[in-house]
Amino acid sequence: MPIPFHTAPHADEELRGALAGLLDGLPPRQAAGAVERLITHYRGKVPTGAPVLRDRADVVAYAAYRMPATFEAVRAALGALADRAPGFDPADHLDVGGGTGAAVWAAAGIWGDGGERTRATTVLDWAEPALALGRELAGTSRSAALRAVEWRRARIAPGGELPAAELITVSYVLNELTEDARHGLVDAAAASGRAVVIVEPGTPAGYERIIEARGRLIDAGLRVMAPCPHGDTCPIEPGSDWCHFAARVGRSSLHRRVKGGSLAYEDEKFSYVAAVRPEVAGTAAGARIVRRPQIRKGQVLLDLCAGPDARRGGLRRETVTKRHGPAYRAARDADWGEEWDGGRDDGRDGERDAGRDEA
Ligand SMILES: C[S@@+](CC[C@H](N)C(=O)[O-])C[C@H]1O[C@@H](n2cnc3c(N)ncnc32)[C@H](O)[C@@H]1O
Repeated sequence: MPIPFHTAPHADEELRGALAGLLDGLPPRQAAGAVERLITHYRGKVPTGAPVLRDRADVVAYAAYRMPATFEAVRAALGALADRAPGFDPADHLDVGGGTGAAVWAAAGIWGDGGERTRATTVLDWAEPALALGRELAGTSRSAALRAVEWRRARIAPGGELPAAELITVSYVLNELTEDARHGLVDAAAASGRAVVIVEPGTPAGYERIIEARGRLIDAGLRVMAPCPHGDTCPIEPGSDWCHFAARVGRSSLHRRVKGGSLAYEDEKFSYVAAVRPEVAGTAAGARIVRRPQIRKGQVLLDLCAGPDARRGGLRRETVTKRHGPAYRAARDADWGEEWDGGRDDGRDGERDAGRDEA
């Protein structure tokens, strides 16, 4: 099971509805052809010198085929930030390389409209067709914040600055940038955001970009809130593994047409980092579950990344057995990507410690 998401005030259902209506008017073969082109492109050479999303067919294909997954991944990352900084409710949001607006729908899913003062949101992207479709989709929403989003054409380039915003999101974009532009964007986000959330595909290369960005955010004075329980060096040995999570995504009819098979869902793998400026109240989790828990007869194996305050920090495996009562029940319900507090209230810490293994 994926990370437990905050249940959005209708954002996910609304987005699904808006996307379902999209394919009307686009012949199925044209939609499938545009999806194939996108897939081929993303397997090939990125970054490019010009937008990949060139016309309506491209952006409809992107929105129908990829946006549900990027929405769920960003929603999970923003949800993890909201869990660790419960008082944080961004008054404004800047989504850089926002395309058709997955991250602004995700923010609406986590924080609603932003309370009494409707959140002011700006999406920056160089692909005009993506911005136009994003505007069209958000225009169908009941959320005042979504309807009021400003969709602005802008190119991300090395040395560029960003306007200040309480929340800056950069989702599935770093891969499309040159190294200079990537560094420049992360540094600009660190300089201008009170909270910065960066999401990439959950691949070894995506994780490497996240780790690099995480280092730059820390160097700029931000504090990591999620997923890491600490701001130290990532304990994963470079090249040996990669930190990633999964978000469950319902498959659309277009998905099934392009990918075949009849599965009703798939898991979007993603890597992310959420960091905040020192004045934002909150703390990182004590430990996070970094693999799908393994449920065996009478025991659950949890692979954890733990912070320096834990008895043993870094990566470790915790075995929780039936004897541990409430902790065992909590472990059986625990999901990949969730925080883990050891099922603390059962008063049997000693026994549980005895069951700990090295990862
Ligand atoms: C894979 S899409 C991700 C879109 C959206 N953030 C999401 O999560 O669904 C990458 C986006 O980055 C934009 N992009 C790539 N390079 C850019 C650049 N140099 N300047 C502005 N936008 C760029 C693309 O146009 C596209 O909309």
